[in-house]
Amino acid sequence: MAAPHVQVVVDPARVVAELTSSQIRALTGLLPPGRVWLERALRETYGGDESPVFPATPAAVVFVENTREVAAVMQLADRERIPVTPRGAGSGKVGGAIPLYGGIVLALERMNRLMEIDVANRFARVEPGVITGTLRNEAERAGLYYPVDPNSLDWCSLGGNVAANAAGPSSMKYGVTRDHLLGLEAVLADGTILRVGRQTTKCSTGYDLSSLLCGSEGTLAIITEITLKLRARPQAVRTLFATFPASEDAVGALTDLYRAGIVPVAAEFFDRHALAAMASALPVREGAQAGLLFELDGSEVAIDESLDRLVEVLGDRARDVAVARDEAERRRLWEARKVLSIRVKERFARYVSEDVTVPPGRLPHMVAFIEALRARTGLEILCYGHAGDGNLHVNFLYQERAQHLEVEAAVEQLFRHVVALGGTLSGEHGIGASKRRFLSIEQSNVQIALQLRLKASFDPHGILNPGKVFP
Ligand code: LAC
Ligand code: ZN
Repeated sequence: MAAPHVQVVVDPARVVAELTSSQIRALTGLLPPGRVWLERALRETYGGDESPVFPATPAAVVFVENTREVAAVMQLADRERIPVTPRGAGSGKVGGAIPLYGGIVLALERMNRLMEIDVANRFARVEPGVITGTLRNEAERAGLYYPVDPNSLDWCSLGGNVAANAAGPSSMKYGVTRDHLLGLEAVLADGTILRVGRQTTKCSTGYDLSSLLCGSEGTLAIITEITLKLRARPQAVRTLFATFPASEDAVGALTDLYRAGIVPVAAEFFDRHALAAMASALPVREGAQAGLLFELDGSEVAIDESLDRLVEVLGDRARDVAVARDEAERRRLWEARKVLSIRVKERFARYVSEDVTVPPGRLPHMVAFIEALRARTGLEILCYGHAGDGNLHVNFLYQERAQHLEVEAAVEQLFRHVVALGGTLSGEHGIGASKRRFLSIEQSNVQIALQLRLKASFDPHGILNPGKVFP
């Protein structure tokens, strides 16, 4: 398994490595016994996430079970200027949950009650520790649907999804987490409890603070309750896998789909290296240079017609087109996609995985740029991802630590190109610790300064998730 190896610079003077004995007394006094971990060996287990960023050890891990407890802990932390890093399931990809400045890791995993599914009004109310797949399953039992799947449905949590504005394969048709967010309860840095948003699907009242908190990566407030829009459950789904003689043919085919008015749920792209990593699990003929995994959904009546049209549009560009015959086959295809990032990490000691996104019609330019970058630098680069959204996971894979600088330089070139194409550094993972150095490639000083002023009004003492997002 790839080892973390990306070191993030911190200001050592601001690190809170240990709490004082009076802080410990105050903290443990706020909560029932057993909820504050102080032993080093335990604390260390909450210091990392799924990014390549080096873990950090918090001074304490605090398990909260309700909003009142969150508010009490925040009041203390604010008064004592103790950094607080909120943590959901720890499945983030950019080091967002890593306590770079020590202090408290606020573990929200036990706030995992699914409070309500309101069928008539099509929304759900959940605590932040609810696993995304649990909401999907419960919504389906109620005849509704929660479509966002960051490709980690079974282990990521909704609080983290909101914090990162997570997305995934189905965002092509259904949009991202923010598109489903109706309202939030959150605790500000000083312990004030705030409720924002609404339970209606539309709202033009005042500023949209739910949307502001969504994607704020734990730097503005601690999310303690989430109201999410649910949709009608699709009646039928079809899955199709196609291979292509060249990457350009695959991404070019997507443009034809938009023109034909076909909007699949997902269009997942794989370059030849990704295909090779999945070869044992997918029907890939020798020589295929790219693949697309499509999913369509809709009514029983409409779906076969859509499928026929999709196959027609792919036409001669595709080499092999295989439609999953049954649910088992469909699951096999998606399983191969799901474990891809794990397979890749197993084979290389180090990796950096980006989630750059361009307007979808410009994807061919990004793909061509990556091909040229690979040739120019000689680096191993493997790409897959949500091509329907113009969002690719560009994985830089290497064995030696010494290569890291070279990789960083290539990543920077990629970012500059993507921004020039009208794209963004992060389509779905966030900026976190690992990309903050690059933020100013995309955002102006004016925009960054304005965000820092907002940050200061939510969190005047800068205790919430320090060291993240901003350069
Ligand atoms: C994926 C995650 C890494 O799409 O975003 O697999
Ligand atoms: Zn993804």
